[in-house]
Amino acid sequence: MRAAGRCPGLLLLLVLAMAAWGLRFPQRHWPVPYRRFDYRPKTDPYCQARYTFCPTGSAVPVMKEEDIIEVYRLQAPVWEFKYGDLLGHLKIMHDAVGFKSALTGKNYTMEWYELFQLGNCTFPHLRPGMDAPFWCNQGAACFYEGIDDAHWKENGTLVLVTTISGAMFNEMAKWVKYDNETGIYYETWTVQASPEKKSIVWFDSYECSKFILRTYQKLADLGAVFNKIQTNYTSIILFSGEPIYLGNETSIFGPQGNKTLAAAIRDFYYPFKPHKTVREFFVDLLKIIDCVILNREFYLFYNLEYWFLPMKFPYLKIIYEEVPLPVGSKTSVSV
Ligand SMILES: *[C@@H]1O[C@H](CO)[C@@H](O)[C@H](O)[C@H]1NC(C)=O
Ligand SMILES: *[C@@H]1O[C@H](CO)[C@@H](O)[C@H](O)[C@H]1NC(C)=O
Ligand SMILES: *[C@@H]1O[C@H](CO)[C@@H](O)[C@H](O)[C@H]1NC(C)=O
Ligand SMILES: *[C@@H]1O[C@H](CO)[C@@H](O)[C@H](O)[C@H]1NC(C)=O
Ligand SMILES: *[C@@H]1O[C@H](CO)[C@@H](O)[C@H](O)[C@H]1NC(C)=O
Ligand SMILES: *[C@@H]1O[C@H](CO)[C@@H](O)[C@H](O)[C@H]1NC(C)=O
Ligand SMILES: *[C@@H]1O[C@H](CO)[C@@H](O)[C@H](O)[C@H]1NC(C)=O
Repeated sequence: MRAAGRCPGLLLLLVLAMAAWGLRFPQRHWPVPYRRFDYRPKTDPYCQARYTFCPTGSAVPVMKEEDIIEVYRLQAPVWEFKYGDLLGHLKIMHDAVGFKSALTGKNYTMEWYELFQLGNCTFPHLRPGMDAPFWCNQGAACFYEGIDDAHWKENGTLVLVTTISGAMFNEMAKWVKYDNETGIYYETWTVQASPEKKSIVWFDSYECSKFILRTYQKLADLGAVFNKIQTNYTSIILFSGEPIYLGNETSIFGPQGNKTLAAAIRDFYYPFKPHKTVREFFVDLLKIIDCVILNREFYLFYNLEYWFLPMKFPYLKIIYEEVPLPVGSKTSVSV
């Protein structure tokens, strides 16, 4: 670095050479960054929730700066079942975060989930008279008063992870507002090259647990110090070779689109209509895997764009793996 500082010409030459190399061999940056939007569009009236999203939701309260807020990790199974030897026992968990104010004694739950359930976020509707698959795939944050201890404790987790000040809570609330307005679409799948720890990740999922991880990271950035406990999360992972970009709805299904490709995407999604229950979702998910294994192909919709995934062994895995609690970037503050 210091040598380069004395020879700025050399450094410039190096930078130019690297830029030229980059131009000759343009490289995608993996994983494809999750796209944030300027605002959340109204959902289409075609998308009708069977269960109202966030029925008891409320605005995030403003806490007194000197308040002391306990932060809880909340996790409970979405569903558990056995499917022969193929996948074994699945540990599919839903994550949330709890807060308890020392000054008021009130407690709160915050989570992020699908507006129209998991099936609708994972597979589109094929509507008569419409070429493009139709997606009801928004997700959002939900904040409400109360923590249902029994629900989280019985088959899951309710554990204190850190204690923050009211001021930190209020800062977090501003971030939640931003995050909720700009991160709009639920992404079920993580896509990576292999099951190895150091594998290339092509796409990252964007679902309930990622929101909790971002929230913890935000609190750590604000100075929260986390307890030392193991924290595992569920991921649904697809394995594929390098993904191929196909285009967006307009470029594929519009008048200039490639009709063969458009038909292939519709055919792919045809058997996988959104499901009524979580159970149906996972049963059909296994059928999809069969089909995906036979043909080794998958059409992924990510950031409102379509990608082709050349699938490879072991095709799909549902893992329950540790993601450690964050270490703060600030030096710790005492509260
Ligand atoms: C999925 O979307 C369809 C179409 O709007 C809707 O009829 C159905 O109720 C949704 N499913 C769930 C579980 O909300
Ligand atoms: C997030 O956005 C949704 C949709 O606009 C809204 O219903 C919900 O209340 C928001 N959540 C929070 C915590 O502000
Ligand atoms: C949250 O508040 C409810 C109602 O007061 C109480 O039953 C529950 O134990 C509290 N939970 C936590 C984790 O503070
Ligand atoms: C916990 O698991 C048991 C056995 O699977 C089940 O009967 C019970 O309803 C579950 N409890 C909750 C709160 O979901
Ligand atoms: C879709 O892709 C086309 C061609 O790449 C681009 O011009 C257009 O702006 C995109 N549309 C949207 C809605 O992103
Ligand atoms: C149209 O899509 C098909 C299937 O992806 C592909 O084989 C074909 O080369 C494409 N045609 C054109 C003109 O791009
Ligand atoms: C949690 O994750 C760790 C490391 O990823 C793993 O060794 C452990 O078995 C997981 N715990 C459970 C209960 O699956």
